Amino acid sequence: MKFFVDTANLKDIKKAYQIGVLSGVTTNPSLVAKEGVQFEDRIEEILQAVPEVESVSAEVTPHAVTAEEMIAEADELIKINGGDKNITIKVPMTLAGLETTRYLAKKGVKVNVTLIFTVNQALLAARAGAAYVSPFLGRLDDISEDGVLLVAKIAELFRTHNLDAQIIAASVRHPDHVTRVAMAGAHIATVPFKVIEQLAKHPLTDQGIEKFAADWVEPKK
Ligand code: G3P
Repeated sequence: MKFFVDTANLKDIKKAYQIGVLSGVTTNPSLVAKEGVQFEDRIEEILQAVPEVESVSAEVTPHAVTAEEMIAEADELIKINGGDKNITIKVPMTLAGLETTRYLAKKGVKVNVTLIFTVNQALLAARAGAAYVSPFLGRLDDISEDGVLLVAKIAELFRTHNLDAQIIAASVRHPDHVTRVAMAGAHIATVPFKVIEQLAKHPLTDQGIEKFAADWVEPKK
């Protein structure tokens, strides 16, 4: 399973890239609003900061409701950073979103269909030509449904029918989510940088480092 970082914060994106684990970046209107920056400018900065990843998702705005509106926005987004091949257009899971997906996929543009909460939604998105489908597991857990189980079911369905859309486990809140979606067959987990830091940590690792430091005797010269 690959890691994407789920943030529009440039510092966090650069840190994740620097430690060598980053395969992509996802943003959404809420994450960009948190940064208080202009949307297209931030997407361009991200694309320039992480040139070796496979995907940087830029979501159409909440004003785009019809397929025509989403396509018009997408046509502008794909020009960012000189038509960067890494840009992925993120659309919501609606009928208009599916129509947009089909249109963009035919043009060779990668699409991430977001806000997926059922297996059927994932199947429709994959059939429309999505490169990525994003089930939101944390938000399902929030309403007492099993988010990881949804990821496992989508993974099984995609294997059964040889669908090549990649599953991005999204709305990941903690390290246990990461372990479980990896084992459930997600291709990618998109996680806040804070969770990447948590994944790297263990109290016994810290204690071990402290003990080695305390025991270390400088070799005699
Ligand atoms: O990738 C989707 C994510 O941004 C949503 O996460 O924590 O707002 O449910 P959350």
